[in-house]
Amino acid sequence: MLSSACPLTTIDRIDGSPAAFLQQIGKIFAVFQAPAQDSGNVSYGVEASGRRYFVKTAGCRADPGPVPRHWERVVLLRNAVRLARSCRHPTLAELLAVIESPEGPLLIYRWAEGELLRASRTGTELRSAPARFRALPLAERLSALTSLYAAHAELEAGGWVAGDFYDGSLIYDFERRALTLVDLDHYRLGPYLNTRGRMYGSTRFMAPEEYRLGAVIDTRTTVFNLGSAAAVLLSDGSLDREPFAAGDALHRVVCRACAPERSQRFASVALFLADWRLAAV
Ligand SMILES: Nc1ncnc2c1ncn2[C@@H]1O[C@H](COP(=O)(O)OP(=O)(O)O)[C@@H](O)[C@H]1O
Ligand SMILES: [Mg+2]
Repeated sequence: MLSSACPLTTIDRIDGSPAAFLQQIGKIFAVFQAPAQDSGNVSYGVEASGRRYFVKTAGCRADPGPVPRHWERVVLLRNAVRLARSCRHPTLAELLAVIESPEGPLLIYRWAEGELLRASRTGTELRSAPARFRALPLAERLSALTSLYAAHAELEAGGWVAGDFYDGSLIYDFERRALTLVDLDHYRLGPYLNTRGRMYGSTRFMAPEEYRLGAVIDTRTTVFNLGSAAAVLLSDGSLDREPFAAGDALHRVVCRACAPERSQRFASVALFLADWRLAAV
């Protein structure tokens, strides 16, 4: 098989820098780093042995600039490895291998074809991926969201609580009609306490407890984050009835998921998904 012959999935340690290694074994066709990425990570789109891969690294150890620091970024990447090894779902970017290097681990993911569903800064271009997604037939959008929610039900079963989830983690392949969720580095085994005040994340997706120091972050927080995805991808980001593209029943499900009061939300992603499925017909 081609993939087993690729050094990216057979080598487990390198002595040099990740970039030099990647150039040597294949072709780097994309680089993701600051200023576009504010994580401090440096990632690569690599073509090798006839396949495309997404290779994620913590970037340069000596780089004093980025926050979080290099060692913290390595901890987050190792967390992502733990998550990928504990939970599989077709909607999650598949982790194929990990290579150790002097600059920390290289996470070798399958390359997800498609475009990011993140709104651009101006957010008004008609041909932008989010705009094109919003113009798709309702059934296609519902099916993408259902796959996202089913993936989170799997994650929940493994104990994982969402962190830093937003439309910048959603890649949509308009040809295959397939959604891929990437960047799960900040997902955590929960519940846990908010020790930051404002957690990582995009305001449009964050639950009230993600702003409150000492608050519990748990699966009800994930339910809120996921409900927000429907508010963004099926509506204008608000919970108003009028701009919401689907019916009353689904609107009620989304409003319940995004209730500011935690006790009024679904108690789990599984319960949210069950009601979502009933209403999304
Ligand atoms: N598996 C993948 N396949 C293709 N592109 C990806 C994949 N994972 C991430 N990306 C792209 O790389 C960018 C940076 O990846 P991400 O995991 O979000 O890194 P960071 O931790 O730096 O935020 C994403 O915004 C997305 O465009
Ligand atoms: Mg990211």
